[in-house]
Amino acid sequence: MSTTCVVVPFLDLKSQYAAISHDVRQAMQDVIERCAFASGPAVEAFEGGFARYCGVQHCAGVNSGTGALHLALLACGVGPGDEVITVPMTFIATTWAISYVGARPVFVDIEPRTCTIDPNQIERAITSRTRALAPRVPESANLCRTE
Ligand SMILES: Cc1ncc(COP(=O)(O)O)c(C=O)c1O
Repeated sequence: MSTTCVVVPFLDLKSQYAAISHDVRQAMQDVIERCAFASGPAVEAFEGGFARYCGVQHCAGVNSGTGALHLALLACGVGPGDEVITVPMTFIATTWAISYVGARPVFVDIEPRTCTIDPNQIERAITSRTRALAPRVPESANLCRTE
């Protein structure tokens, strides 16, 4: 019996880009022509559209995922002496954001099936200092179980 090895790409960014390449090129050209590299109409349009999509009044665009995680913790009032429950199986930015606000990351393992935080292990990680839960933001787009 022979075995065939098929490599399934984890993320096929090339085909994702191919589906939207015309719009992406046009949007980037517009930003370049306006020299609106840090803010401007494209950012305002994104902020308004995303706020409407989320059903909220305001949205603030930031320069990176790390900045977004950092700001989210600040907005939640997380600070020195606090603990934030998260997972080791994610990009280091989650732990960076927790340390930027002076808090301590408390790691809970992931579930093999979803590759996101294991809800059965969260309770034993909670202490009187726990202020937030930052589950993995997965590349696979799986959401963590909440039931
Ligand atoms: C899960 C996750 N969170 C946060 C980040 C940080 O994003 P950025 O590189 O835009 O700061 C990344 C980047 O790869 C990521 O994969």
